Amino acid sequence: MQPGKGLLMIQFDKAHKRFPNGTTAVHDLTLDLPEGGVTVLVGSSGCGKTTTLRMINRMVEPTSGTIRVGGKDVLEQDAAELRRSIGYVIQQAGLFPHRTVLDNIATVPLLLGWGRGKARARAAELLETVGLAADAAKRYPHQLSGGQQQRVGVARALAADPPVLLMDEPFGAVDPVVRTQLQDELLRLQRELNKTIVFVTHDIDEAVRLGDRIAVFRTGGHLVQCASPAELLARPADAFVADFLGAERGLKLLSLTTLEEVTQGPAPEGARWQLTLDAGRRPLAWRDSESKDAAEIPVRPLRDSDSLLSALNESIAAPSGLVARVDADGVLTGVTSREDIHAHAGRVHSAASTVAA
Ligand SMILES: Nc1ncnc2c1ncn2[C@@H]1O[C@H](COP(=O)(O)OP(=O)(O)OP(=O)(O)O)[C@@H](O)[C@H]1O
Ligand SMILES: [Mg+2]
Repeated sequence: MQPGKGLLMIQFDKAHKRFPNGTTAVHDLTLDLPEGGVTVLVGSSGCGKTTTLRMINRMVEPTSGTIRVGGKDVLEQDAAELRRSIGYVIQQAGLFPHRTVLDNIATVPLLLGWGRGKARARAAELLETVGLAADAAKRYPHQLSGGQQQRVGVARALAADPPVLLMDEPFGAVDPVVRTQLQDELLRLQRELNKTIVFVTHDIDEAVRLGDRIAVFRTGGHLVQCASPAELLARPADAFVADFLGAERGLKLLSLTTLEEVTQGPAPEGARWQLTLDAGRRPLAWRDSESKDAAEIPVRPLRDSDSLLSALNESIAAPSGLVARVDADGVLTGVTSREDIHAHAGRVHSAASTVAA
């Protein structure tokens, strides 16, 4: 997802927040968020991510500095109007427990005076958009799973089609499988809707997966670095950022690159491990030509769109050290060696470093 028209949607200009008790939550933040991209805010607990998010829709007002949304100072806009024009999703979805799913989603359209019929029609449409069955409409939040509630939360935030979406650890309370599904859905939605999204998470993998840019904060509300995931992983600004990204940041970088440009060739003749294919030339397994009962090991063929990380993983798991490559129909196109994957991985790392330099 590339930022849309190059316009600046959200601008922090030395925005500072000191609470009455003396805590500085955000320290002179200067940061521009382009229209139509996902910016992920990360950093340890208490470093000011939620406060930063809430200054955008004026739930928290800065002590000094300015925040502009669509070029206009938020303090010069009507607070209620501003809030209705910005979608907001929080952990545990924050749904109204006594309202049905449909009425939860229709909240903002009703506040905007759309009329019941139109608001409900829009809500029903959004149920489908976020991947919920139509029969969820009449249920109450407690009758849904955590993951389903989060989907309702996203639908509610999208109801009035706001250009900006604020998401504060929206997928923090669901299991890893559901979390991945919700991330996939968000990426799909974002390809369609191209909103300006500010997303807070503690999960660096989530940040790398969803972000066009990642902003790393340090305790005291200091922004340390804001860069694309590839730049950040290849060139963390300092030891704090490197630490935050974790020991596996090299591998994470590989998750951002696809197999597409890695060379492939025919499976070697006469090798010990032979690839068996079905009648349609789709890979079935690796067969050991030296074992009497021709033992077979399952193969996981990869497509061009799969990541270098999954390719490396498969090349290590496969007894042949080779990755079977297939086209969109699952038909074998060739094989790639572990060495070729390694060589490409090295080039990816130096390219990302150069970009960041
Ligand atoms: N209303 C408030 N009054 C006083 N201090 C506050 C208030 N809200 C937040 N803080 C403090 O400001 C700092 C930043 O809080 P904030 O909620 O923005 O952090 P966060 O990065 O979102 O943390 P977490 O990852 O735990 O959600 C913390 O030290 C917090 O205790
Ligand atoms: Mg928070």
